[in-house]
Amino acid sequence: MTVLLTGGAGFIGSHTCVELLSNGFDAVIADNFSNSSPDVIKRCEKITGKSIRYYNANVADGDAMRKIFSENRIDAVIHFAGYKAVGESVEKPVMYYRNNLDTTLTLLEVMKEFGTDIFVFSSSATVYGNINPVPFTEDMPTSTTNPYGTTKLFIEKILTDASCADKNLAVVLLRYFNPIGAHESGLIGENPKGIPNNLMPYIAQVASGKREKLHVYGNDFNTHDGTGVRDYIHVTDLAKGHVKALEYAAKHKGCEIFNLGTGTGYSVLDIVNAFEKATGIKIPYVIDGRRAGDIDESRADASKALRVLGWKAEKSLFDMCADTWNWQKNIK
Ligand code: UFG
Repeated sequence: MTVLLTGGAGFIGSHTCVELLSNGFDAVIADNFSNSSPDVIKRCEKITGKSIRYYNANVADGDAMRKIFSENRIDAVIHFAGYKAVGESVEKPVMYYRNNLDTTLTLLEVMKEFGTDIFVFSSSATVYGNINPVPFTEDMPTSTTNPYGTTKLFIEKILTDASCADKNLAVVLLRYFNPIGAHESGLIGENPKGIPNNLMPYIAQVASGKREKLHVYGNDFNTHDGTGVRDYIHVTDLAKGHVKALEYAAKHKGCEIFNLGTGTGYSVLDIVNAFEKATGIKIPYVIDGRRAGDIDESRADASKALRVLGWKAEKSLFDMCADTWNWQKNIK
């Protein structure tokens, strides 16, 4: 099976590319490298020993996508490409809606023209909003607190409607919890441009000396130590979930939703402690005020993915921290 990975040079896309190639799939990447570089693809080739065809292309550009579909027999698409910064989405909502929705609509149109009928989408636990008790199950009501999250929710809706109308289409919506870690080789990982928005990349940059100290956003949440609790998942486990999703979609039409998380929650201070234990590096921090929109706790009920896909996260928090550092320590 040949899989088109949009945003395949990104953090989750590149790890998924490696897992797919290691499991006998072929991969073609479409990426405009706005938040990544072709060097990542070279590194995926080094890890897997396989060559990867890639296109420097905007996924919203129908003609660019037609070229890819006409030059390759694409059996399935995994759509990772998209803007993903919560704060930026509040400042530039139109840019977020334009980009994240256009790319999806173009893909659906071009897939239909070429008879490609498997669509796996990178959704997010952000669609559970701030109204649900943990752990989150896939049937809970959805809502969002920022435009980024709303793009994910709208795209889920678009894909659900598309699969209702086209009985040949198989759609899998994967709701990611908090992916961290890096490939065990240390060759690929997360390398955000500018100041990291997310916790683990920020901690990693404090460890490497690039940032002075971590700012902990609030210690008055309703959690065991007052700091926010999240369901962190190793990116390699997450990547394996995509392989299972594709295998499922190859046999089942319609639309299914799966949480990809571990089911275990850790606070910000748990993560700091675990990182210090795994690396031996002290992470200085200060407690700051809450960040707008942050909730007490986000945690998956991951039982549906186990029951239906036979998938379960395997790596520990220690692995997540050690692998993050193994990657970060080599970044110049
Ligand atoms: N945090 C800090 N300091 C930082 C960064 C984060 O204390 O510098 C805290 C946050 O307040 C939160 C936790 O660390 O309690 C995790 O924050 P992240 O930004 O790493 O992750 P979020 O859970 O806020 O966001 C993630 C994804 C989003 C997605 C969201 C909900 O990055 O894309 O989960 O699913 F929308």
